[in-house]
Amino acid sequence: MLQPLIRLLLLCTLIIFYCNGLQAQDPQTPFAYSVRKTAFVNHGAVVSAHPLASKAGVDMLRKGGNAFDAAIATQLTLAVVYPAAGNIGGGGFMVAHTSTGKDLALDFREKAPAAATRDMYLDSAGNARTDLSQNGHLASGVPGAIAGIFEELRYAKLPMSTLIQPAIDLAENGFALTAAEAHSLNSTQEAFKRYNTVLPVFVKATPWKAGDTLVQKDLAMTLKRIRDKGAKGFYEGETARLILEEMRRGKGILTAADLQTYTAKTRPATLFPYKQYTIVTMPLPSSGGVVLQQMLKMVENQPLAGYGFESVKAVHLMTEVERLAYADRAQYLGDRDYYSVPVDTLTSQAYLHSRMAAFQPDKAGNSKDISAGVLSPKSEETTHFDVIDNDGNAVSITTTLNGGYGSRVVVGGAGFFLNNEMDDFSVKPGVPNMYGAVGTEANAIAPGKRMLSSMTPTLVLDKGKVFLVVGTPGGTTITTSVFQTLVDILDFGLSTQDAVNNPKFHHQWLPDELYVEPAFPTAVREQLTSMGYKVIQRGSIGRTEVIKVLPGHKLEAVGDGRGDDTAEGY
Ligand code: DON
Repeated sequence: MLQPLIRLLLLCTLIIFYCNGLQAQDPQTPFAYSVRKTAFVNHGAVVSAHPLASKAGVDMLRKGGNAFDAAIATQLTLAVVYPAAGNIGGGGFMVAHTSTGKDLALDFREKAPAAATRDMYLDSAGNARTDLSQNGHLASGVPGAIAGIFEELRYAKLPMSTLIQPAIDLAENGFALTAAEAHSLNSTQEAFKRYNTVLPVFVKATPWKAGDTLVQKDLAMTLKRIRDKGAKGFYEGETARLILEEMRRGKGILTAADLQTYTAKTRPATLFPYKQYTIVTMPLPSSGGVVLQQMLKMVENQPLAGYGFESVKAVHLMTEVERLAYADRAQYLGDRDYYSVPVDTLTSQAYLHSRMAAFQPDKAGNSKDISAGVLSPKSEETTHFDVIDNDGNAVSITTTLNGGYGSRVVVGGAGFFLNNEMDDFSVKPGVPNMYGAVGTEANAIAPGKRMLSSMTPTLVLDKGKVFLVVGTPGGTTITTSVFQTLVDILDFGLSTQDAVNNPKFHHQWLPDELYVEPAFPTAVREQLTSMGYKVIQRGSIGRTEVIKVLPGHKLEAVGDGRGDDTAEGY
């Protein structure tokens, strides 16, 4: 009698949590945005990490803008309302499909300053100083976000003055913090004080709480300069002067020439078939395209659907392909403009078939026995958002400062955080970065080079038309989360909401550990442990956003239940 009652109570709690979104995070809080996790709409949709950013995007669609207009407004608004990851001082990637059938990949990743050197984070004894690659002025690569946004503008319909206005208004007049943001700002107060030369508005004598208004006047001024002067409003003039002043005060190495010479790069998107679908994703300097392709191709001919979602067999197989792909990532992947990467070989059927030869169906692999494949000589912050419009344009963008609030340095007088992306380079062979990823020569620091990324903005096309728009933050877990979300929908037939919200797992070769989210089923965990896996429960993995195109161009946009993520549309 009691058991069904407890079950019912549990179910009700879950439903309330699901429906209330944010409110569920802090039941004491009198304030909360109304957070829509799923939107079924007809014309266009935006799903992003913050309700105000999703709204800004949809407002542009309603004004007659397309998916690129909505993406720009969302991206700029995130830089104001989600300062931990939304940014103008960071960088990212866009993968898009246009109404004319073109697939695009835009790289606005940060680059190493000209004065960067291979050993800049080693002390005199040769020890790695990851404290310097992760914090403070020396941690920043040259920001790419604004150059990226002005490339995106080439595909948009509305003027920048319209697209940037919601961000300016929110910075100038302020917006109410969510409970999650108040908590995040409170837990970073000491770092803000330690790494800043001018105390930023994020520092407060008493704790932030949900509903407090965050006003960012300096940021509003910077955004106005961008509105009035274009990309030069960031890379030159007053904003550049403020960045260089900040560098001088904090002994950083970014120069005027670094800023002036930064360019976003349009690259051929990575396209490959998976079953009847075409996957469109990000090429290097994101590792995402290669690693996702390797993992999908290694499972494509396996009977995953027959094994079933969250079955021991499926999790084992998927974990082993994650291990193999991440071993190659560490050895071979880096910025292709600086280092020759054998992408064709790494993603060839023959090579991947030989990699799978080590797979043992009943036993965990061992990362000590598995290193990168031998090739013949020839051969917790980021943010993701999806947009789709009525014309057939789809945009998938992942953008980041790297860690939460990046280097934690706010440019004095300009009001925005600088990234700590230099830590995504391999600062010394074998030394893990903040996500535990190791690397070698391929990802060593060199002036002007882009650091290797895991960000994997992705589209799935069905018969040439957009079917899914997918992506997530999460450091090295990004590519495994995108992999699992795709397999969950395309192989296991899960609903979009389940694919987004069901527990994820992650293996990245080194450390030889299988990470699972708290809700991962205990019985599966125990069986995996008995097969030899070191299973470790960790906090949430990623914040996946998905838009699915349903028959008749109906749209289903789903925001992750793990955060403030919101789906909007009309
Ligand atoms: O480019 C990368 O792979 C990392 N800088 C991403 C960092 C990230 O996703 C942090 N988010 N939770």
